[in-house]
Amino acid sequence: MQIAELVTPAAVVDLERVERNCRAMAERVARLGARLRPHVKTHKTFEGARLSVAGHFGGVTVSTLAEARALLDAGFRDLTWAVPVALDKFERVCELAARAERFAVLVDHPVAAAALERAAASHGRVLDVFLKVDCGYHRAGVDPLAAESVELARTLATSKSLHFRGVLTHAGHAYDARSHAELRAIARAERQGVVGFAERLRAASIRVEEVSLGSTPTLAVADDLRGVTEVRPGNYVFFDAFQARLGSCELGDAAFSVLASVIGCYPARHELVLDCGALALSKDPGARHLDPECGFGVLATLHGMPIRELELVALSQEHGKVRAKQAGVVERFPPGTKLRVIANHSCLAAAQHERYFVARGETLVDEWRPARGW
Ligand SMILES: Cc1ncc(COP(=O)(O)O)c(C=O)c1O
Repeated sequence: MQIAELVTPAAVVDLERVERNCRAMAERVARLGARLRPHVKTHKTFEGARLSVAGHFGGVTVSTLAEARALLDAGFRDLTWAVPVALDKFERVCELAARAERFAVLVDHPVAAAALERAAASHGRVLDVFLKVDCGYHRAGVDPLAAESVELARTLATSKSLHFRGVLTHAGHAYDARSHAELRAIARAERQGVVGFAERLRAASIRVEEVSLGSTPTLAVADDLRGVTEVRPGNYVFFDAFQARLGSCELGDAAFSVLASVIGCYPARHELVLDCGALALSKDPGARHLDPECGFGVLATLHGMPIRELELVALSQEHGKVRAKQAGVVERFPPGTKLRVIANHSCLAAAQHERYFVARGETLVDEWRPARGW
């Protein structure tokens, strides 16, 4: 079967690009001397995880316990759940940890640490734990310069029911960078923040085994990972229009697109309507700080060639409104035409779909079912 025969909207994954993206990141991280623990949050599949761990030790990062379960079912045994653990999830964490060789969770608050310790003790288990560190994103994590952060690490390290693995950070603010120079500065600060904190802990006689960082944009520019043991990029498996705008990849590396049909053509106002709205693409605004005109994704032909004269200007639930930059363009795309949308943010767009149609060239070769929910 060919992509053109799919009923729209349909999530399409370009397998050759995924393989190429995975190979490039695996080689890059090996060259920089770290271990790769890829994040599976973007594709949420064991198939994508298998491709991304190739050449490395096999550890993975997950963003939900649903992903963790799917990967454990597929035989993965070394997982980090890289979102601070919610107190209502301890039972499920302990159940999943019992199936793994190593299952690490994150904390950044003494209340969560104490509750996690009690849960582990009541299950008669020792749980692996990371202290989440804020390297400037200000989403989650302890301040690496605060004295309480050292004390929290000491509490984790001296617990009988917890195994303190080390420190972990994520420079999500790299997505807001306005230039290559700013991105490089964020990547340097990500490393310095977490490695410096690990050194402070060691100076305070706290054993730190692992120092973990990573995002796709910072790893695209990082040239020094000294002191870092593991990195956790995720988006690079698919990449997307946002990463291309940021400079982490070329648009031709974007492996995820949504196939859509033209369902309306309005030459008088130079507009088309597609059958892919926010429920097929998400409403991620894209890299607007770099390109205010970026719309809701990049339009491309069925064969994947970007169509620069068209912009996806608005999304409602099931409609995508496309505007041509000049007259005489939309007539080329009458109702029934199939187009692709290279998503602004592949993680959010992929999460809208219950299956991905996996293609080599334009031939469908597989179907992947992401682990949805939590
Ligand atoms: C804690 C953590 N680590 C790693 C990643 C992977 O980053 P990226 O998607 O930029 O590759 C994320 C992404 O949100 C994250 O939240």
